[in-house]
Order: sequence, then C-alpha cells, then structure tokens
Amino acid sequence: CGIVGYIGHRDAYPIVIEGLKRLEYRGYDSAGIALFDGTSLKVSKTKGKVSDLEACVETQISKTGNLGIGHTRWATHGVPNDINSHPHVSNSGDLVIIHNGIIENYDSLKQELIKRGYTFKSDTDTEVLINLIEEVKTKEGVKLGKAVQIALNQVVGAYAIAVFDKNKPEEVVVARLGSPLAVGIGDEEFFIASDASPFIEYTKNAIYLEDEEMAIIRFHKGIKVRKIKDDSLVDPYIQELQLNLEQIEKGGYDHFMLKEIHEQPKAITDTYRGRLLRDEAIIKMAGVEDNMKKFLNANRIIIVACGTSWHAGLVAEYIFEDLARIPVEVEYASEFRYRNPVITENDVLIAISQSGETADTLAAIKMAKSKGAFVFGVCNVVGSSIARESDAGAYTHAGPEIGVASTKAFTTQITVLSLIALRLARAKGTISSSDFRRYLLEMELIPEKVEKALEADAHIKEVSHIYKNAANFLYLGRGYNFPVALEGALKLKEISYIHAEGYPAAEMKHGPIALIDENMPIVVIATKAEHYDKVVSNIQEIKSRKGKIIGVITEGDTVVRELADHVIEVPETIEALSPLLTTIPLQLLSYHIAVMLGKNVDQPRNLAKSVTVE
Ligand code: G6P
Repeated sequence: CGIVGYIGHRDAYPIVIEGLKRLEYRGYDSAGIALFDGTSLKVSKTKGKVSDLEACVETQISKTGNLGIGHTRWATHGVPNDINSHPHVSNSGDLVIIHNGIIENYDSLKQELIKRGYTFKSDTDTEVLINLIEEVKTKEGVKLGKAVQIALNQVVGAYAIAVFDKNKPEEVVVARLGSPLAVGIGDEEFFIASDASPFIEYTKNAIYLEDEEMAIIRFHKGIKVRKIKDDSLVDPYIQELQLNLEQIEKGGYDHFMLKEIHEQPKAITDTYRGRLLRDEAIIKMAGVEDNMKKFLNANRIIIVACGTSWHAGLVAEYIFEDLARIPVEVEYASEFRYRNPVITENDVLIAISQSGETADTLAAIKMAKSKGAFVFGVCNVVGSSIARESDAGAYTHAGPEIGVASTKAFTTQITVLSLIALRLARAKGTISSSDFRRYLLEMELIPEKVEKALEADAHIKEVSHIYKNAANFLYLGRGYNFPVALEGALKLKEISYIHAEGYPAAEMKHGPIALIDENMPIVVIATKAEHYDKVVSNIQEIKSRKGKIIGVITEGDTVVRELADHVIEVPETIEALSPLLTTIPLQLLSYHIAVMLGKNVDQPRNLAKSVTVE
C-alpha cells in the first residue's frame, strides 16, 4: 500500500491525489482520502484506482482543506471494496487513519473492543487499530500521540500509519514498523509518504523514520520523533533528496515499463561507473573491499530474494561459482526465513531487492544476522530498509523503477553481482589477469550491445502479434540463460496474464514436452554458448512435435535461424554476461503482447511493486 499526507498552508487535495498516483506502484486495488477544512472531516474512498477516487470525490465531497491523508491499497485483510478502503474513521467519528502493513493480532484486539461496545464497518485490521487508539485515548485521557504510542505497543505486526483527530487539526501522528515512511519538511508545511516521490517538487529535505519510531508533526511547531517502545526522544537525521521529478515521469514513452526497458544501457553504465576501472584493471567496490575477509573466508554465499530479484540471484549463482569458485545457494526469502536453515558465522548472505522493502527479504536478513552471518545488500532504492539493515552493500544505480514488472532493476542487479564475482575471483586468483581484463572490456561494451538488442523492437512486435492469443508459452534456456528463461516467463505472466513456464532446456523432456503441439509457442534462448549444440538438439525435439519456435540467437547464427519459426538476434558476448542481452527481447516480447491485449502494463492486476507484507 502507499500512504500520503499533507499539513500546511496549501490545499491538501492536489498534493495527496498526485502523490497517490506516484505511489500506485505500491498497490492499486482501492484508494481513499480524508480532508479537514477547518470545520468538517470529509472522507471519500472507493474500490479501484486513484483516477476512480478522483471521480468519486467530484460527487461526494468538497476538495477544500489544508490537512489531508490518502491511501492506495493492496488488499491484505478484506476484499478490495469501498468499505475496506482507507482512510478508516473511529467509532466517535473523530479519529482518522491510513495504514500500510498488517496487524497480526487484530482479531483478538477486535474481540476485546467489541466487548467494550465498539462496532466495525469493515473487515480490516486498520479499523481495529484506529478504534484501539480511540479506546486508549478516552480511557486513559491522554493526547493523540500518547494514545497512538500505547496502542502500538499492544500491536503485533507491521505498519506505517498516519493519524489525525479532527478536533486537533494542527497535528498529525505518524509511526513506522516494517513499512517505510518518509516525512518531507517544508517551510511550515509537512508531507508524509511511503517514499519521497509525492513531495519532491515541494521539498528536498526529508526524514525517514526508522523502525519503531513515531513522529508528532505540528503545523507551526515542527516535528518530534520518539521511540515507540520507551518514549525516548530521537534526534532525527534530515536527509537531502537526490531524486528529481523528471526521473519519475514517463518522458514521452507510452508506459513506464517501455521507458525503463530503454533506459537499460544508461542504467547499466551508471551501475558500473566508478567501480569498473579498466585502465587500472581493477574493480573497486567499497562494500566488498572493506569486507574482503568475510567474503574470502565464506563457507558459502546464500542469496535471498523474491520475484525478479530471485532470478538475478540465480544468474549470480552461476557467475560466482564459475569465476570465484565459492559455493552458492539461492533461496526464496519467504521459504528461507521459515525453514530453520543452517546458518553459521562463516556464511555470507546476499540479499537482492529492487525496492529494499520486501518484507520477506527483510525478515530473512534479520534472521541471518541474528545467527551471526554477514549480510550484504544489493538494493536499488537508496536508504531503503534492506539497505540500512545490511552490514554492507552495493547499490544498483538503475534510477527509480515505476513499472511493476521489473526490467532495468534486473539487469543492473546482474551487473552489480557480476562485478562482485569478478572482484572476488581476482582476489582469490581463480581468474587469470588476461581473462579479468577481457571481462572488464566486455562489461564496458554491454550498454552498446543492449542498445543494439533494443533495435529488434519492431521485429519483436511482429512476432508478438502472431502469438498474442496463445494460451500458454514455454521458455527454455540453459546454463546462464536458464534463469533468463524463468524471468522471461515471469514477465509474460505478470503483464499479459498468459500462462508461461520457464524451464532448463534439458528438463523439457521430463514433462513439459507433453504440452507441445502446434499451438504452443516456445521461446528458446539459443545464443552461442558452451551448450549451444545441446540446445540445438532441444530445438529439433520441439520441431518434431510441431511446436512454434522463437529463438533468441547470437547475431549471424544460421543454424537456429534455419530451424526456428522466428529468430531474434542479440550481439555476441561472453557467456557469463549474456543474460544482460538475452533478457532484452523477452522484456519487449511480453511488453508488446500485453499492450496488444489491452492490459494495464504498468499496473497489472493483483500485483504490487513493493510488497511490504509477507
Ligand atoms: C514484487 C514485484 C516484483 C519484484 C518482487 C521483489 O513481486 O512485483 O517485480 O521482483 O516484488 O521485489 P524487490 O523490490 O525485493 O526486488
């Protein structure tokens, strides 16, 4: 979910609505807003997107008021409908809340409140929380800030909340545990949001609350940050934001996803810039350098991640083992954290996360840290929770990724992970200096080659047109390109809702081959690589079952061109770096199919970009 709030001298409505639109990547099942105009509290909410909310507001409430909070939801408790949408108002009608997260013990709290006469309109955990705050406030006769604090100490779960009392409209109380919350500080005005994007045109100064911190924001008096547990005052760190508005707008492209696909050459360059020093033949990464011993003494590297980031982890497994000869295990964060894994002080855990906020990944690193493992974070969002929780790390410099389907985050993650593998290989002596140089040179050429791969766009569009109505797709790859097959299938599923499966090419004969007939398009990554001949045999097997073959091939390859129904060329490169190129046509294929099917590419149904609940 995404939350936005404003208190100050401007009209809150446009700030909250525009802010919610920028946060829609965090969820878009339903949306709502609460405004206070000096006399009355006005709430409007609806199932659907922020644009649906705007339409509702037109007929339901006036848009005036200098105090407002809004919410865009990704449902956890209760189906997405008008009533379950946020904001939620307390029984007295005085207190109003927006909440991102989950209150796990909401049911027992709710039963208690029902005994005390409270009634509930929605099925949400959030309505329980606001009534708990009200109960504490009236029973203990305390101010809002104190009531929020006492209530939160009874709560188990995760939250980023903003609450205000219509009888004290110069004050908003916010708090965080597990879900991100930033406060933008202007001149006698404050902005509240899940990330800084809603307020960057108003202020460059922001405070990111830490876990278990709350803040009381007073219009004329400023902001006070406290620890939720023991009430101690915290001296907040005011950060200067680097983000600019242009970075989070579409810049002439039809969709963010397309813009982000095309940004990859620059994103990859930005990611290795300053780290890959070819003239000196070195790779310099402070986070790795400072902890070289940990890496070199590691029994193994455990990589944890979710979704697309997990696929980047799988690519990394190949390159770490291949070049640096360190054993690697790649785990879904959600499984790892709950399966009592064996972790020792000699393990290095690498957490990969675009947002740096994924709840399962965050929990996995906390667990690994508690068992003494060294945690290294690979995140895109600067200052994110995972970045802060890690012992050390390296940022990908992809810039903001807005499209829910991850593209440039994936290729920049592979870039960072390849640099780390190369750096470690050099330190361990498992790569020769001439090979090392060859890799550095090749890495520098990747952005140009991605550019070249993007030139196949028009052809990929034609192929997309032919197969857009297929019910199923199969994606096959081997070695370094097996994870790419998984990622290609995921991209298609996510945005076009066509069922797709990724498989290691050789595994095809152990199951998926049964699905192949003349209606089945099969994307085969068949670039020149160690197992090229074997992939060619797999293509023969598909052909004899009449499957339709879309081959992703190395420029100039004639063998697969002969066999396949369609081919898409990518430039030649070192096999270990080939995922950076073979991914590109698969991104474009899924993009065009989704657009042709009329799907909402940037905001596919049921998904969210940043999943801050487990
Ligand atoms: C969600 C997104 C995916 C992303 C995954 C992990 O499912 O829709 O695109 O890969 O979360 O997110 P992270 O921010 O941790 O990389």
